[in-house]
Amino acid sequence: MLRHRVRDFGLALTALLCFGFTGWVAYILIAVPESVQAEIGGPFALEDSAGQEVTSAAYLGRYLLIYFGYTYCPDVCPTRLQEVSLALEDLEARAPALAAKVVPVFVTVDPKRDTAAVLRAYRSHFHSRLVALRGSEAEVIDLVRAYQGYVRYVPTDNGADYLVDHPAYVYLVGPDGRYLTHFTTFQGRDDMVERLLRLAAEGQG
Ligand code: NI
Repeated sequence: MLRHRVRDFGLALTALLCFGFTGWVAYILIAVPESVQAEIGGPFALEDSAGQEVTSAAYLGRYLLIYFGYTYCPDVCPTRLQEVSLALEDLEARAPALAAKVVPVFVTVDPKRDTAAVLRAYRSHFHSRLVALRGSEAEVIDLVRAYQGYVRYVPTDNGADYLVDHPAYVYLVGPDGRYLTHFTTFQGRDDMVERLLRLAAEGQG
């Protein structure tokens, strides 16, 4: 228990140092016991990189690994999407039937710059089944809020450019469309694979 607390404190501190107040608030929101949390996640209706409407209802019966980010992200996004891609590859080797039920999803929080064409180019760097989604700014911000995170557009010194604060977590949604868990930046491909294997073994989906 003490170990756990010490580790939690370390994570909170790291979150604060790495992601500033945003990270700290996000950590507090996510780290409190699930029983006292409002429900995390929710349905969505967005467009994929081919311009087709994609709804969360279409994914009932599948596991979703959802990540919110943007293609201009200088650091966290490519790393996280790479981890998701590698997790799926590992799963394909170890449990192909389960892997086939897992859909990796990237939702851009920067739809202004991340057009469908930009998303098409970006997703080619990752697992071939990665679904890249976009919506209006309001739609994606609302969805991130539903996941208890938030989005902030931060101007940079060189005028026209901006960065986007966004959650760094990968969220796992179960076959019933409900949030199951999330993976922090300290949890990579192995954690995702092990968790999915365990859930499947427990008969969740
Ligand atoms: Ni990012």
